[in-house]
Amino acid sequence: MKELKIESIFQVYDDLSELPKEIFLLMNKAVETRNKAYAPYSKFRVGTALLLDNGEIITGNNQENVSYPSGLCAERTAIYYAGSQYPDSKILKMAITGASSNQKTKSPISPCGACRQAIAEYEVKQESPIEIYFMGEIGPIMKSNSLQNLLPLVFDKAVL
Ligand code: THU
Repeated sequence: MKELKIESIFQVYDDLSELPKEIFLLMNKAVETRNKAYAPYSKFRVGTALLLDNGEIITGNNQENVSYPSGLCAERTAIYYAGSQYPDSKILKMAITGASSNQKTKSPISPCGACRQAIAEYEVKQESPIEIYFMGEIGPIMKSNSLQNLLPLVFDKAVL
């Protein structure tokens, strides 16, 4: 028996003012989009902004449904729109923010498992990593250089 240790490295920015200008602007787009989320059931709004290699910024937010599983997270709303409109473009950077109506969300909101799997698909498709920045409503912003930090041992199409 051997033990396998897998490390994930993240960068942590104290707050928005510490972000590089380009990411600050991208995160602000995510915040604007978060405020337009449709989240009447959870009262938890999430916004995502993507920077594509053609310079476009694509945004998406969570869209809930009275039949709960029919709703969709912000991250997938954004990446599926990007994939459908710009199939040949790469996603370079992704900013995510989540905020609750019940309390100030201070800890960074990382993508859920299903969104991690969906983002992984696009990293494989475009053959390059996606930088992911995520935050709550206020407080620190975490950065991952690739989805791989968030989803180690990803299911590999090579086995198909
Ligand atoms: N949500 C997202 O949009 N992204 C995530 O990564 C986590 C969860 C949404 C789904 C649901 O509308 C609400 O947040 C509460 O789970």
